[in-house]
Amino acid sequence: MTGVTARVPAKLNLQLAVGPPRADGYHDLVTVFHAVSLFDQVTVEPAGRDGITVTGEGADRVPADQDNLALRAIAALRAAVPDRGTAAVHVTIAKRIPVAAGLAGGSADAAAALVACNELWAAGLTQPQLCGIGATVGSDVAFALLGGTAVGRGRGEQLTPALAPATQYHWVLAFADGQLSTPAVYAALDRLRAARPAGPAESEVAPATEPNLDAALMSALRTGDAARVGQQLSNDLQQAAVSLFPALRKTLTAGLELGALGALVAGSGPTCVFLAANAERALELAVSLSGAGVCRSVARVSGPVPGAAVVSAA
Ligand code: C5P
Repeated sequence: MTGVTARVPAKLNLQLAVGPPRADGYHDLVTVFHAVSLFDQVTVEPAGRDGITVTGEGADRVPADQDNLALRAIAALRAAVPDRGTAAVHVTIAKRIPVAAGLAGGSADAAAALVACNELWAAGLTQPQLCGIGATVGSDVAFALLGGTAVGRGRGEQLTPALAPATQYHWVLAFADGQLSTPAVYAALDRLRAARPAGPAESEVAPATEPNLDAALMSALRTGDAARVGQQLSNDLQQAAVSLFPALRKTLTAGLELGALGALVAGSGPTCVFLAANAERALELAVSLSGAGVCRSVARVSGPVPGAAVVSAA
């Protein structure tokens, strides 16, 4: 085989409930992951030694060395199947998912690299096995393999597919002029919570309790009612992201004023996400948001879509 290409989607979190920090520095989550039609493409080809080339959106900000999550995933896969012909590979990542944008682009590339190398090396690992390896590389890698809509627990790597009907949701993503570091946003949330006045204050930041799945969101997803889904979108990291990137408040407000059914920050941000009633409304919203000058650029996407999959093997 001379090369394998896999395609992998970005993710949104329709709910992101964050618990207190754990001893290992991570936070227990309950999240509703949702894969959307914004894809990176990862090609692996046999080579003299492992290497990587990154092209496309934000490529200059992606590490092109062993720190790259795709190369780390490949190393983890190789270690898991030592008796197979796991020869060196050159990885080419064609990025469309913006970097450090809250859309799990790095985890996506790791997931695509796992799927592609599993095929190239004929390693024969199952999706659950790849998810186990992926989870050692990043909290969102397992979901990038699974795709669809799924509930994530633990660090986000313990997944249960959600029984969502075949409804397609239409989203507008507003990409920010800047980035946010995920650890910095979690740390900001911890600080905001620590500074929160005692008692049932009017604080915008929810207390650090054990996270729970939002039954109203799951019910809305089951019925496929976009208006109800829009009302139930929630993200405990949002206030922390806005505190570090105050311009996001204006973007979120603009999208709601322009008719979005719901708005939230994507993961740890700074991308803002808007739900539209249908494809036509999404187009109108995207055009209006572009014109409002409240973001760097916009994209229309739909979801759910499947997780990382091989698209060509030669
Ligand atoms: O797992 P991943 O490398 O994607 O996580 C990046 C960072 O995000 C972690 O180092 C941690 O600071 C934070 N994080 C967290 N709790 C999670 C997931 C991520 O605190 N459940």
